Amino acid sequence: MRKRYYCKRLNETLNFDALKVFYCCATRNGPSIDVPKPDKIKDIIKRRNSLIKMLDRGVIPQECVGCFDLKEQENPKPLIISQLSKPPKANMIIVKHFKQCDCSCVYCCEQYLSERKIVLKSKKSDYYDLLPIIEELYKQDIVDKKELDVHFQGGNVSVLDEFDDLVNIFIKNGVKRVEIATNGIKYLPQIEQISNKTFVDVNISIDAGTRETYKKIKTVNKFEDLVENLKKYAKLPILLRLKYILVRGINDNKEELENYINLMKEVGITNSELMIDQCDSEFLQNGEFKIPEYYYELFSFYKEKCAEQGIKATIWEYIEEILQKGSFFK
Ligand SMILES: C[S@@+](CC[C@H](N)C(=O)[O-])C[C@H]1O[C@@H](n2cnc3c(N)ncnc32)[C@H](O)[C@@H]1O
Ligand code: SF4
Ligand code: SF4
Repeated sequence: MRKRYYCKRLNETLNFDALKVFYCCATRNGPSIDVPKPDKIKDIIKRRNSLIKMLDRGVIPQECVGCFDLKEQENPKPLIISQLSKPPKANMIIVKHFKQCDCSCVYCCEQYLSERKIVLKSKKSDYYDLLPIIEELYKQDIVDKKELDVHFQGGNVSVLDEFDDLVNIFIKNGVKRVEIATNGIKYLPQIEQISNKTFVDVNISIDAGTRETYKKIKTVNKFEDLVENLKKYAKLPILLRLKYILVRGINDNKEELENYINLMKEVGITNSELMIDQCDSEFLQNGEFKIPEYYYELFSFYKEKCAEQGIKATIWEYIEEILQKGSFFK
């Protein structure tokens, strides 16, 4: 009997990027549809439905071949998604249809589209408006309102003209969780406004503990503004996480890491994530980037220092995996 499949991510996700909508998480090149426009909403939904049904018939889309998220349906019959029944509603919306930002991190994965221009005033996305699309999704009952998890990525929402309206429409429809990744340079009053209306998760990559290193990485002189904003966010009823991406030759040393941890302590933030710059995976000769020995020492040092200060030191599973393998590709 023919095997039949499903993918949790495909069943759940609508990931609005600048040039495409992906039916998959932000870190993988899963199936997608080109240039989303409000008048194309039917096509966006049609393609989603057809992908879900394809898997259910045992046909794997090219983009999903070999993906570890692809699962076999446990019971080969009857069809869970018959040709007549409705596909599951989406419960994860990723907002990254804009690339403008008020800084220009040396490592940023999105800057190839924004050409490293620093944008200081709110403006429209260079690609499309998302609000009419979201309105239409709600109208067509494609979204699981009560279970919806929204992730704002970007670019940086502080310079997106639609940000308020998008937040409002999700709140009005009873969103379950809102995650906002931001650089923290401008204080976002919207976070305060919604903090008692839903679960709010704010994560901020600061990658430094001193203004000098901060400037080298973010390329703007905004360290003091950031610290003031962190103090304000730390008082809100939200989950506040700080990130430190190890950038080779700039912040990859114990002194800076210790300054970062001390800053967290001073400001009263108790969640931290240590990451490796993804650009390292692109530098490689012969398709391989070996993790340098001193990175292991930095990770141990980070864990120790965070423990001393009562800070939860998260290292994501995929980072642990890279460290275990000793390289990005193996
Ligand atoms: C592109 S940013 C957009 C949101 C926001 N501007 C920010 O910086 O948080 C989304 C996330 O990707 C992460 N990111 C960007 N470039 C990266 C890289 N080269 N390596 C690891 N993480 C990266 C950022 O730290 C951030 O958490
Ligand atoms: S199977 Fe993999 S590539 Fe395909 S949608 Fe799911 S997570 Fe994305
Ligand atoms: S703040 Fe975010 S979007 Fe802006 S340059 Fe840095 S990583 Fe990229």
